[in-house]
Amino acid sequence: MALVTGASRGIGEETAVALARDGFDVALAARGAAALEQVAARCAEHGARTAVLPTDVTDEAAVRGMVAATVDRLGGLAVLVNNAGGTNFTAPLVDTRAEGFEKVLRLNLVHVFWALQEAGRVMGAAGGGSVVNVASVAGLGAVPGNVSYATAKAAVLSLTRTAAMEWGPLGVRVNAVAPGWVKTELNRFLWEDAEAERQTVAVSALQRWGRVEEIAEVIAFLAGPRASYITGHTLVVDGGQTLLP
Ligand SMILES: NC(=O)c1ccc[n+]([C@@H]2O[C@H](COP(=O)([O-])OP(=O)(O)OC[C@H]3O[C@@H](n4cnc5c(N)ncnc54)[C@H](OP(=O)(O)O)[C@@H]3O)[C@@H](O)[C@H]2O)c1
Repeated sequence: MALVTGASRGIGEETAVALARDGFDVALAARGAAALEQVAARCAEHGARTAVLPTDVTDEAAVRGMVAATVDRLGGLAVLVNNAGGTNFTAPLVDTRAEGFEKVLRLNLVHVFWALQEAGRVMGAAGGGSVVNVASVAGLGAVPGNVSYATAKAAVLSLTRTAAMEWGPLGVRVNAVAPGWVKTELNRFLWEDAEAERQTVAVSALQRWGRVEEIAEVIAFLAGPRASYITGHTLVVDGGQTLLP
């Protein structure tokens, strides 16, 4: 039984399908119920049982209820992928309003904390489990113009390490993936603009966008038994974007 947040499109959708292919029943969470139903149909093609859980992850009660609903509908929780997130504004640090900063943290960081608390209890009691947090290379370095997102993603990596230490003795692994530029709705404003797109892909060694499947495969690997001795790790999947000093 796996729960994927932000499963209605992009990296989360492909991750849900990859986990279904790997034999997991899948609970799908995001705000858009209609899109989740379509992803559920893709998962069902692999024989997975599915649970569609329309959820706004900025709502604490909804996030806690989402984990409980997964256990209720699918009979347990072996894998949690905290993938929902993103940002839709940029501003220099001094112009970033505190309210906006907190909003980005709530979407990208605080909900991960809520979901981890709920999942940790369930997985600990069940004797094991696996969590993958989707962070970003933005959390590894500096991101001028996007201090909120960079701070949130850096903190997700820290949460990952502490949870891994606390839950290792319980058989619960916690890892993170840090994608570079991946072509999704999140950055449509870049790939619809030829010059912005050229500059974006130029920063990676591979000189192209990452594909959602390329991130989903890594998440599914970390989530499943092939990664049974990996915990507290951040796996960078960025086509070489962060190679230069
Ligand atoms: N694309 C990249 O270049 C890139 C790079 C590094 C890291 N990432 C990270 O990868 C993750 C997935 O990004 P993506 O590129 O796949 O973005 P995307 O295509 O925009 O998908 C975002 C997903 O999150 C869901 N979501 C957004 N706000 C939500 C909310 N308040 N409550 C519940 N669900 C919500 C969306 O569904 P609804 O709108 O239906 O709620 C959607 O399913 C994010 O954490 C992002 O920060 C992306």
